[in-house]
Amino acid sequence: MVLVVGGAGYVGSHVCHALRAASEPHLVLDNLEKGHRQAVEGSPLVVGDIRDPNTVKRVLAEHMPDTVMHFAACIEVGESVRDPAKYYWNNLYGVLVLLEAMREASVERFVFSSTAAVFGEPHYVPIDENHPTCPTSPYGDTKLAVERMLRAFDVAYGIRSVALRYFNASGAQPGANIGEDHDPETHLIPRAILAALGRVPPLVVFGTDYDTPDGTCVRDYVHVSDLARAHLLALAHLRADGPSRAFNLGGGEGRSVREVIESVERVSGRKVPHSFGDRRPGDPARLVASSKLIQSELGWRPRFVDIDEIVSHAWVWHSAHPEGYRS
Ligand SMILES: NC(=O)c1ccc[n+]([C@@H]2O[C@H](COP(=O)([O-])OP(=O)(O)OC[C@H]3O[C@@H](n4cnc5c(N)ncnc54)[C@H](O)[C@@H]3O)[C@@H](O)[C@H]2O)c1
Repeated sequence: MVLVVGGAGYVGSHVCHALRAASEPHLVLDNLEKGHRQAVEGSPLVVGDIRDPNTVKRVLAEHMPDTVMHFAACIEVGESVRDPAKYYWNNLYGVLVLLEAMREASVERFVFSSTAAVFGEPHYVPIDENHPTCPTSPYGDTKLAVERMLRAFDVAYGIRSVALRYFNASGAQPGANIGEDHDPETHLIPRAILAALGRVPPLVVFGTDYDTPDGTCVRDYVHVSDLARAHLLALAHLRADGPSRAFNLGGGEGRSVREVIESVERVSGRKVPHSFGDRRPGDPARLVASSKLIQSELGWRPRFVDIDEIVSHAWVWHSAHPEGYRS
């Protein structure tokens, strides 16, 4: 049995879908601050906060999971600069509470949603696991601090973990009626689609003079269903007594902001209203992952690498749910 904390959010709900498809018993613990009850229909849900030790201890004692998967974090880089306390409190202290309760309950496997933000400004791309980690935001700091805590907890207490450093999670599980619904939505693909649908103001493209083929920033879009499969592989790896690992997870190709806008226009048949603005401080020109390590160690391969296919899955979700789960 797997305890999925933060399972009612975007990535977590796709992992729950994959767990249901694999008939893997699981339970979601989510405070629903950002998550959606409808996103985990079909999975049992406990509404509660991981920073509350009593809730976490009770859930572990009642359900005795063998593994915990963690998605329960605050996720906005800009907000983490304005309000770092919120991030250290939820993303770091929350994990400490969870790990302490796991230690007491002898739960010894942990899968962690980490991020490309642990690397900071890239020295080279594609970014592999040997790339130095030097986060440039409190958000990235909290994720790197958890990775370090996990290494220490393995050595000292035998809690083994897999940290999956996603690059840009995107798309939606076809046919599953689940998708991306963040508030606020800061990610490019949903913002471009919502702009095309007239649901949000025109997109602003930040910077057109980067050292990239078309001058706009390049990012690595990895399909959320491919991320979900990586979680199941991580689970199998830990259950087979595999060692603690940290893996980078990307779709394998960088796409520029302009390419994403063009893709949304092709897929939707609509114009994406947009304008061009200045660079945002701290935005690297390119962030592209090397996923060779997880490919060789866990046999993971992304199934959806074509940007139009990723965008079309997102388009199906957003055009049917222009107000997200409220639609
Ligand atoms: N979306 C991405 O592109 C991306 C990229 C890299 C890493 N990540 C990481 O993946 C994870 C999931 O991201 P997402 O996009 O699904 O975010 P999300 O906001 O959609 O999901 C997070 C979920 O956790 C829940 N939650 C937050 N704090 C909680 C707490 N204290 N107790 C209980 N539940 C809590 C929220 O209600 C929400 O359902 C995060 O840890 C994020 O840092 C996401």
